Amino acid sequence: MTKREKLIKLREKALADKKLPKFEGATKLVFGAGNAQAQILMLGESPGYWEDVKGIPFVGNAGKLLDQALQSIEVPRGDVFITNVVLYRPPGNRDPNPDEIEAFSPYIDGIIDILAPRVIVTLGRFSMAKFLPGVFISSVHGKPKEVSWKDKKIIVVPMYHPAAALRNGDVKAKMLRDFVVLKDVLESRDKLVDDKIKLEQMKLV
Ligand code: URA
Repeated sequence: MTKREKLIKLREKALADKKLPKFEGATKLVFGAGNAQAQILMLGESPGYWEDVKGIPFVGNAGKLLDQALQSIEVPRGDVFITNVVLYRPPGNRDPNPDEIEAFSPYIDGIIDILAPRVIVTLGRFSMAKFLPGVFISSVHGKPKEVSWKDKKIIVVPMYHPAAALRNGDVKAKMLRDFVVLKDVLESRDKLVDDKIKLEQMKLV
C-alpha cells in the first residue's frame, strides 16, 4: 500500500470512530492535507471556522500567514503535509482539553508513522507539548530538537502559532525568523522531496 492509500484508510477509520469526541457545531473531520511523500509535517492545534467549512487545515487567516511564511523560505505548500492535534473544530474555537487531544492522538501518531517525516514543525503550544512536554514556547521556539519517535529520529522545530502571530507583531517577526531556521534545517539534510516521487500529491478532504 502506498503512503497515500494508508492515509486514506486511516482517515476512513477516524470518520467511523464513534469514540472520538463530538464537538457541537463541527461539521467535518479535518484529517489533514498535503503531500503523502512530504518530509515536513506541520502540526497545528485544531480546525477553525473555515477549516470546518472546507475540510482542509489552515485555510483561514492563520493559514494565509502560514502560506506566506512557507513562501518566504520557498517551500511550496504542496511539499508539506499539514494537520492538527485535534481533528474536529471545538465550539467557538476554544482550546482543546487534554482528554480531547489524547482521544485524537492515535490518529496523529498514525499520520506520523505513515509519513515518517524528517521534520515536524509544531505550531503553537498544544502540538509542541506532544514532543516537548513542560517547556515554554517563548524559550524553545525556533530551536530544533531531535526527538526519538519509536525507532526513528525526527527533528522537531517548535514555532509560535500563526494565529498568535496575527495578534502580535513581535510574535509574527519571531515566527518568520523561525521559518528561516526551518530552511537551514532543511538545507542541512538531503533534498526536501525527491522530485521523482513529488508527483504523488494528495488532498484529503
Ligand atoms: N488553527 C489551527 O491550529 N489549525 C487550523 O487548521 C487552523 C487554525
